[in-house]
Amino acid sequence: MTSKTIASLLKTVAKSQDIEIKGWVRTFRANRFIALNDGSTLQNIQCVVDFDKMEEALLKRVTTGAALHIKGQLIESQGKGQSVEIAVTSITVLGDSDPETYPIQPKKHSFEFLRENAHLRTRTNTFSAVMRLRSTLSFAIHKYFNDNGFYHMHTPIITGSDAEGAGEMFRVSNLDAKNPPLNEDDTVNYKEDFFGKETNLTVSGQLEAETYAMSLGKVYTFGPTFRAENSNTSRHLAEFWMIEPEVAFMDLAGNMDLAEDFMKSVLRYVLEHNREDLEFLEQRLLDEEKTKPQSERSEMSLIEKINFVVDNNFKRVSYTEAIDILKNSNPNKKKQFKYIIDKWGADLQSEHERFLVEKHFKCPVILFDYPANIKAFYMRLNDNTEPGRETVRAMDILFPGIGEMVGGSQREERLHVLKEKMKALDISEEELWWYLDLRKYGTAVHSGFGLGFERLVMFTTGMGNIRDVIPYPRTPQNAEF
Ligand code: 4AD
Repeated sequence: MTSKTIASLLKTVAKSQDIEIKGWVRTFRANRFIALNDGSTLQNIQCVVDFDKMEEALLKRVTTGAALHIKGQLIESQGKGQSVEIAVTSITVLGDSDPETYPIQPKKHSFEFLRENAHLRTRTNTFSAVMRLRSTLSFAIHKYFNDNGFYHMHTPIITGSDAEGAGEMFRVSNLDAKNPPLNEDDTVNYKEDFFGKETNLTVSGQLEAETYAMSLGKVYTFGPTFRAENSNTSRHLAEFWMIEPEVAFMDLAGNMDLAEDFMKSVLRYVLEHNREDLEFLEQRLLDEEKTKPQSERSEMSLIEKINFVVDNNFKRVSYTEAIDILKNSNPNKKKQFKYIIDKWGADLQSEHERFLVEKHFKCPVILFDYPANIKAFYMRLNDNTEPGRETVRAMDILFPGIGEMVGGSQREERLHVLKEKMKALDISEEELWWYLDLRKYGTAVHSGFGLGFERLVMFTTGMGNIRDVIPYPRTPQNAEF
């Protein structure tokens, strides 16, 4: 007989059939009721032990956290709260488990404590629900692109170009750190390094994705990206996963349509497939809300928020309109913003983005047409912009509670404009010769965006700290596990 998962057993109609099951003990009550969980579902299965028929020494080893192999009969449950249970005929404790030191006790633990025990935190309901949702979201993303004619490409993780400018990079080198080979001017001689040049971990797969879009049409990359920024916030990681579609012959309006349709589609998918986990996390948040003053409580529950995004259009607002709204806003006039908005051209901080989505529009917002000088070199310069007020075809998607979820743009397809921009920013043409080639051979309008996967998981699960939606977070001063 092969073991079944708890998820499949709970869907079965009990007919006193013999079954086997393996899992970890969540609780063992009254020497009689074992709540067993195997990760296949949020729910535990109740295993009922006949105390008189079991050796006491064996039962002593049935402790919270222990791994068990249970044989028994699946029967209709005698108690409340579950439809079926297992009348246990035999228990094998699969290995040692020390109940004295096991960190995940059947009580409420703080998220800080669980972060320190991240290798065991998926044995709690909250983290198992979050990580099942993360897995479903990842699948839904691949499914969306596959269903819509996109090719998945793997962009390199080690990169020789530092052109994206998306953030500080982590160097990849196998030179002797204590005694590196030096040039005559005492700088490190990377010609002697593994790749014969300076290399780093990638901050984005976009530039390489562009090369494939210009031959395969519609592509996406979904991989880890690395940024060595010292931003110790609840929304930044040094290693995070990014989804970057890139599409030939698509302009900025098409890019916005794609991003909106894509996000709604993956959220719809989790609503349909992970109801149990979502309902659990919704309840967790409702309980947390009860501890807050009425004025700080959220107007919508978790599932209502997700449904709201799925059912409503994202508001599309130009940067210029957004600046006018912010300039005239109460927090700006009353100097409650840390960074006061006084003129066109200001870079928007997260306090401004949050005001726009949470207070002003109260829905996801796509901001577009940003000033050229606060955005990356590869973004398409708008035609007919006023001198001194040049804008690029950029878009950022802002979400309530999260802030920036997506950053993207129509790309500059005109060789001479791109070269001028690179020159102004001192970006080497030699390094990006291949990127410039795209503008020499069969150049065309094309666009794409990057979605921060962990920020999407935060929104979907209602978790407030990005460290709690990735298995092993990498942040400044922290790379445990
Ligand atoms: O806006 P960003 O920097 O865009 C790019 O990297 C472009 N190359 C994307 C493209 O057009 N293909 O980053 C995109 C998204 C952000 O909107 C945010 O959701 C997420 O990546 N992100 C982070 N997530 C977690 N930790 C960080 N340090 C992040 N930095 C960006």
